[in-house]
Amino acid sequence: MQFFLDTADIDEIRQGLDWGVVDGVTTNPSLIAKQGKPYLPTVKEIAELCPGPVSGEVLATDVEGMLEQGRRLAGLADNVVVKIPLLPAGLQAVRTLTEEGIKTNVTLCFSANQALVAAKAGATYISPFVGRLDDVGQDGMELIEDIVEIYRNYLFETEVLVASVRHPMHVHQSAIIGADVVTLPLKALSQLYRHQLTDIGLANFLADWETTGKTFDD
Ligand code: E4P
Repeated sequence: MQFFLDTADIDEIRQGLDWGVVDGVTTNPSLIAKQGKPYLPTVKEIAELCPGPVSGEVLATDVEGMLEQGRRLAGLADNVVVKIPLLPAGLQAVRTLTEEGIKTNVTLCFSANQALVAAKAGATYISPFVGRLDDVGQDGMELIEDIVEIYRNYLFETEVLVASVRHPMHVHQSAIIGADVVTLPLKALSQLYRHQLTDIGLANFLADWETTGKTFDD
């Protein structure tokens, strides 16, 4: 399973890469807006920092606009993946970009049928938003189960990229289901490392050794 960081914050990306578990980065217009920096240069900076796939999203919503922006995004660096919203025009653009050898990440997926048509269009990744489904009272992880099963049934090569991840259970369940990638904020990634018994156990080990009055070299 691959871990992508869902952020446009350069410091967070550096931190995640230093931990050695980050395989790629996903951005979106909201995340880049939060940084208060220009759009394309931010995607380029991230793609230069992270050797793995970096998703940069088109802002256009018509086919020609998405194709033009998608080609410019892809031209920034070899590892840029063009993120395209799940619209009929978006899937038309995905088909063309795929034929041109450009990788795509179809975003804002909220149903299994949307994932099915994205795979038929040739998407490299599909991004179902589990947290946003949970927010409106639907089970986001059920959608992941359905998509993984459908893709297996028909041997689609599109990778399931679980997005809108809010907490460690989303990651745990994604791994059990067999999703290909989860993209998550740095805070959620850091929570994967933590367990109170680890902290208590370590404190006890060190306290017990302290009672001996000896050092590591004694
Ligand atoms: C995915 O690519 C999106 O950028 C992201 O996961 C959306 O997450 P949110 O619902 O927390 O905004």
